[in-house]
Amino acid sequence: MSFVDIKNNQAIGVFDSGIGGLTVVRALMERLPFENIIYFGDTARVPYGIKSVETINRYAAQITDFLLKKEVKLLVVACNTMAAVAYQTIKDLSPVPVLEVIEASARNAAAATATKSIGVIGTPATINSNAYARAIHLLDKEAKIYSQACPLFVPVVEEGWLDHPATRLIAQEYLKPVLAEQIDTLVLGCTHYPLLKPLLQEIAGPEINLIDSAEAMADATGNLLKELKLGNASRQPPQYLFCVSDVPYRFQTIGERFLGRSLGQVELVRL
Ligand code: DGL
Repeated sequence: MSFVDIKNNQAIGVFDSGIGGLTVVRALMERLPFENIIYFGDTARVPYGIKSVETINRYAAQITDFLLKKEVKLLVVACNTMAAVAYQTIKDLSPVPVLEVIEASARNAAAATATKSIGVIGTPATINSNAYARAIHLLDKEAKIYSQACPLFVPVVEEGWLDHPATRLIAQEYLKPVLAEQIDTLVLGCTHYPLLKPLLQEIAGPEINLIDSAEAMADATGNLLKELKLGNASRQPPQYLFCVSDVPYRFQTIGERFLGRSLGQVELVRL
């Protein structure tokens, strides 16, 4: 495929079901400080992780269309749930390269494990799709994957309960069956989970590698831009635009927690 018409200074389009994908934007800003970024978060319709495959695909197609109209040079599917069930739909619609979070995390997990026993946690849609197991098995046929859906993690993270006793109890309960399998690597297969990293590391123990999907995504984006020679050569301060389908109560504070800095310009968009 040729991407000759793409210009290096075009923005990277990042999309997510809500604001969790800002963990990916944060990693991208750190890893690629001169790239312009347009983010779309479907805050009016989040969460996707408990919705049907058909609905998630329909929403993903609408967001793809929106970002392509903004003339992005690359699409980054930050949402694990969309990556798990709607990647093909997005790819079929897109004339620009598409990167998704699952392959990036699978690669890091396969590289990190010594025992080939890997745990994966994510939303119900992600875990039911089996997308992580498929992606890891493509890299290592012998890997054993133990998956666990953790539907309560998204609301507790949005509530800001990152080290709350209730979150600790929920995490202990969810991780119990996965940790019983003697895994040495745990994939945090959801945009929200990087914020629970300190708590999850404490529960899992220091010897378990936690694979942060946000960092994996930023690494994969950096590598692809280099490979396709599409990195922004300009050393101007980059432009960031955050588009959302609703501005819910407390959006700014939650968003800033995910992003680790001020959100700046937020635009309300109707799809
Ligand atoms: N962004 C979703 C994910 O990474 C979590 C939130 C949701 O369920 O929409 O799977």
